[in-house]
Amino acid sequence: MSTSQLSTAKFKNISIQDIKLGMFVVSVTRQTGDIEFKPGLVSSATTCRSLRSMGVLEVKIDLTRSKHQQEEILENPESNLAPSPQSQEIMSSFEKAEARKQTQKLYAEAKTLQTKLLASLKKGEVVDIAPLEEMADELVDSIFTNPDAMIYLSRIRDKDTYLMEHSLNVGMLLANFGRYLKLSRQMIKELLVGGLLHDTGKVMIPDEVLHKPGRLTPEEFDIMKTHVEYGIQILDKAEGITKTMRTVLANHHERLDGLGYPRGLQGLELCLVSRMSTIVDVYDALTADRCYKKGMQATQAFRILLQGSGTQFDELLVSKFIKCMGIHPTGTLVKLKSGKLAIVIERNDSAPLQPVVKIIYSTVGKHYLDVKMIDLARSPTEEIECAVDPKEFGIDISKFF
Ligand SMILES: [Fe+2]
Repeated sequence: MSTSQLSTAKFKNISIQDIKLGMFVVSVTRQTGDIEFKPGLVSSATTCRSLRSMGVLEVKIDLTRSKHQQEEILENPESNLAPSPQSQEIMSSFEKAEARKQTQKLYAEAKTLQTKLLASLKKGEVVDIAPLEEMADELVDSIFTNPDAMIYLSRIRDKDTYLMEHSLNVGMLLANFGRYLKLSRQMIKELLVGGLLHDTGKVMIPDEVLHKPGRLTPEEFDIMKTHVEYGIQILDKAEGITKTMRTVLANHHERLDGLGYPRGLQGLELCLVSRMSTIVDVYDALTADRCYKKGMQATQAFRILLQGSGTQFDELLVSKFIKCMGIHPTGTLVKLKSGKLAIVIERNDSAPLQPVVKIIYSTVGKHYLDVKMIDLARSPTEEIECAVDPKEFGIDISKFF
């Protein structure tokens, strides 16, 4: 075969139904959506499904770079058969971007559902657990496939919707913690629903106490503490509440040293679920922005958990929680030693100080940069100096998800 024949046979348009693993996709030629596609190798069944689900109808493949049709690769086969590491990376980042989009959509739906739940409880209606369970199933799936995206989303907060976001985040962070501890899927799901419900008793707390912009007086704090008892009453009226869900709600303010509330349980009276719930609840409350205070950076919140570790909180579980979140959880804005600001996108379990980050801003030139994703484990010239507060630089991290 001549060179010209080879070049005309190099590309082929194929229907999405015929796409196979090992094909090298150059571009999308027909689609019902508007996805922007980066060339890459179809390396998994998930990619095929993702392309179909996004409305792709036909793609152009490069036969010389595809692995599936060896007969069409006539010259220099060895060099063409093996996909370059770069193409594999491109494809996996494409898949990750798609998974992030799906997670974001699901998270928005969960927020709507949680808002409705709190509004119906405020009207005195009984909790309908069925939609919560359905949503929890999907959220658990998402936590398994893309925990980094879920943690990132939990960092995007609105100070005016604290109760709704706090409940959703406690549910997701608890479920993610359960995944990290390798608990059963059923248990993880119940932890998630327990988190969604854990502060529902707050709908019974008068607004002037619940939304007070500042420190509560001892009397007001006593009123606030009653949200646990109110929550138990709400659960008592609902059907399908499991022991785990009830424990999350009943014990999330208890402390190992017996100084928590409402019952002052201590030590062995507090089971694994109770101990996990207190850690997650405190972490999320500390990192949240409120109308009267700025949320802490994750590292500061970890420090507070570590200070109470062994007294208020289970020591081993605190260290596992920090590992599960990553020293710099996804969604954290970090300053690199080069003066650039970057957002943590993917944890690196084997080197927690070297996550994958998105570089966005130069503190030297005081301007935004072209967004660039880098893996700090593979970039010896870049290193994290510290976590910084996005508000200090007027940066909205939700725009870089
Ligand atoms: Fe609470």
